[in-house]
Amino acid sequence: QDPSRQKIVEAHELAIKFYHYLLNNTKQGDRAKQYLRERGMSDRLIDHFMIGFAPDEWDVLTRFLTGRGFDPALMEKGGLLSAKNDGSGYVDRFRGRIMFPVWDGNGKATAFAARIINDGSPKYLNSPETMLFTKSRTLYNLHHAKPAIRKSKQVVVFEGYMDVIKSWNAGVKNGVATMGTALTEEHCSILRRHAEEVLLCYDGDDAGQAAAYKSIPMLEAAGLKVEIAILPKGKDPDEYIGEYGPEAYMREIVNEPVSVTKFKLIYSRKNHILLKEEGRKNYLMEAVEIVAGLDSSTEREVYLKELSREFDISLDALKQDSHSIRMELQKKKPAGDNNDNSWNNGRNEKRR
Ligand code: CTP
Ligand code: MN
Ligand code: MN
Ligand code: MN
Ligand code: MN
Repeated sequence: QDPSRQKIVEAHELAIKFYHYLLNNTKQGDRAKQYLRERGMSDRLIDHFMIGFAPDEWDVLTRFLTGRGFDPALMEKGGLLSAKNDGSGYVDRFRGRIMFPVWDGNGKATAFAARIINDGSPKYLNSPETMLFTKSRTLYNLHHAKPAIRKSKQVVVFEGYMDVIKSWNAGVKNGVATMGTALTEEHCSILRRHAEEVLLCYDGDDAGQAAAYKSIPMLEAAGLKVEIAILPKGKDPDEYIGEYGPEAYMREIVNEPVSVTKFKLIYSRKNHILLKEEGRKNYLMEAVEIVAGLDSSTEREVYLKELSREFDISLDALKQDSHSIRMELQKKKPAGDNNDNSWNNGRNEKRR
């Protein structure tokens, strides 16, 4: 074990306790605590996720760590301190922020996500990429969620840290989030190591829905079954829980996910103006194409029937269109590859 890596982890572990203490025991911390209270965070939650507070001062952590013999240059490399511009020393990287510790998949403390109190920019300041922390490979809360993920074979993926935390409190123990980046192939293969199924629980805003849409083919390509939880327009899981409570959240959102096909239909629908004939026609064609990608003829029929009823088009016509789309796709597919429908995702992806 590389001693400098070990030192950086040790420093993070100390910093977590230090910031947590400052949240609970200082005047400045009171304001942060008040903010967390307003967001519905109990002491139990704050303790479980070891949330802390970095005071709005230049060198509280710098002095704390150097006082304990840590080399500030190494702490800068580890992302906890910043070098001063004039080269005369180091200052704290995080100031005046609420601190969310980040553990890697093995439970080693390697980074922080730091939120501003109330509004301001940037809202979240994360640790920089270091020898121990790579955003594209890190999933917030993975270490703590692992037992629940393994047990249920399912993992719930959120966009935000607060979504993970509030959902944990509502009963979702198998939740993780990306570090403010889009889901990567590396994330997907990490998820596949622990789970068979993913529940995407992204924000109900356009950005969240677009991110979910893009994540689906990647997750499927990694061999994961995907379902999607649909949040009401403009709400994220944390906001939903705040407004309707944890029971309604579990009942209406987490336990009522939709299939990938249903999600794609909902998504495509939102991009067309159904009050206009042109929009209706375009949506129908896109919808049939989505349905045509399904391997099960029963499933295809279920969706086509729904479309037939809603748009008053004969089931035969829809079936014929679906059939010709399938024939087209058959030609493009590599020989012998009968069960893989990832081509459909690629196709939808390109067209958008
Ligand atoms: N994010 C970020 N920097 C920002 C805004 C967002 O890193 N300036 C990342 C964070 O990881 C955040 C995620 O993108 O959790 C989703 O963004 P958003 O929905 O705006 O934030 P919330 O998680 O809802 O943040 P909060 O509830 O604390 O306001
Ligand atoms: Mn505590
Ligand atoms: Mn959002
Ligand atoms: Mn959000
Ligand atoms: Mn939020």
